[in-house]
Amino acid sequence: MSLASVDILILAGGLGTRMKSATPKVLHDILGHPILWYVVEALKSIDGRPIVVTPAENEAFRSEFGDQVRYVVQPEQHGSGHAVRCGMEAVSAEYVLVCNGDDPLPSADDYREFLEESLTRGADAAVLAASLTSPGQLGRVLRNPDGTLSRIVEARDARPEELEVHEINTGIYLFRATDLRGWVARMEPENTQREYYITDCLAMAAQDGKTVYCHTAHGRWEMAGINERGELASAAAILQQRKLDSLYRDGVTVDMPATVRIDWDVVVGRDTEIRQGSCLRGGTVVGSSCIIGPHTTLVNANVGDGATILASHVEGAVINSNSVVGPFSYLRPGTVAGDHSKIGAFCEVKASLLGAGSKIPHLSYIGDASIGENVNIGAGTITCNYDGFSHEKHRTVIEKDVFIGANNNLVAPVTIHEGAYTATGSTITHDVPPKALAIARAVQVDKEGWVRRKKSGQ
Ligand code: UD1
Ligand code: CA
Repeated sequence: MSLASVDILILAGGLGTRMKSATPKVLHDILGHPILWYVVEALKSIDGRPIVVTPAENEAFRSEFGDQVRYVVQPEQHGSGHAVRCGMEAVSAEYVLVCNGDDPLPSADDYREFLEESLTRGADAAVLAASLTSPGQLGRVLRNPDGTLSRIVEARDARPEELEVHEINTGIYLFRATDLRGWVARMEPENTQREYYITDCLAMAAQDGKTVYCHTAHGRWEMAGINERGELASAAAILQQRKLDSLYRDGVTVDMPATVRIDWDVVVGRDTEIRQGSCLRGGTVVGSSCIIGPHTTLVNANVGDGATILASHVEGAVINSNSVVGPFSYLRPGTVAGDHSKIGAFCEVKASLLGAGSKIPHLSYIGDASIGENVNIGAGTITCNYDGFSHEKHRTVIEKDVFIGANNNLVAPVTIHEGAYTATGSTITHDVPPKALAIARAVQVDKEGWVRRKKSGQ
């Protein structure tokens, strides 16, 4: 339907004292995004750039949301009604959709359906209500005998019989802007908190004989808003379940889902298995038919099809198709492992390129290296990339088809040219020519009869 002109006002000016945190409540993280991000995201299906009411210190809001939203400062916190009063200075549309910024759970459909139903009914003021099994501290919706809305009472101001009501205020409202300006001017802080409540505007609308509509949310509502850490965890669990459900629909298997964490933006291809204890964070992208875990953490990682990453920590790295990592390896930013490569057990790899089919099977540190195709790095090899003085790390270049013997130190900057071999235990300090064998270790000396002489005291 074509909508009337509607501005969106998101209330995020509260300090969130119940969170006991230095971070503003709505900026607390859930699955890789702040709470408020989910609200802004769900409201994207409604035209217009939302207006966000913030506390005075709002740099963190600005750096998170940039110019996706407009900002209005609420200099002092005198309640949700006061936040709306502050926000109204930026409202120019005929209607204003007011939304709490501390509830990441309502979907785009929830907001849109409420808005469309309210406008269709010609409401001057409307609220979205929901029925909860445990309404807790939420505002209760009190209706007249004919079912119309009488008022909303906060749990802390409610009489015992009012607390029995399970229909709650979700904190989502629609108002005709001109009327709302009048109501917010008339609000009084007559409640236990001595705050201005936006909810009082609905009672005023009813008293003024305006068309007040109370829309009951469809579907299941488990909670409304986050005020303290327990609710942060509960909301995160609900969103995690939604994320898992969407992965299942996309053909992803998750083993023991209660033990995994998968951020909201993570993308996983079909037939990939995410095994227990794994954590996929940030903008991680995993291809199809991979095995991730058990006990793998991927942070902003990019994993190609058919890869296996077992019990490893991977951050900012690219692992191309059909490669194998782990168990127990650490891949750091800037690492790119080619197709069919292997980074085996107990390896640390940093800012290094590993060519297709190359292998670092065991116990190595490879940093700032470019490794060509079909290279084998012997167990226990170290790239010595830091001289203890310069800011820049030195690079190690290992061309294709090279074989590095076990327990080598490659003292960078150094190049091992194509097809060369290095002997076990070598400390390579200068470039190795193509197809040569470099031996850089002490020559073995056998002292015949040494033990016998030692024992007899000679
Ligand atoms: C509010 C509602 C309650 C509803 C619940 C749903 C009021 C009076 N009560 O209660 O009926 O059931 O939400 O979640 O509104 N805020 C500001 N400035 C302030 C105070 C709050 O911008 O000075 C913002 C908060 O950041 C928050 C929203 O307004 O996003 C609601 O405030 P909050 O303190 O969380 O209200 P609740 O007690 O949860
Ligand atoms: Ca709240």
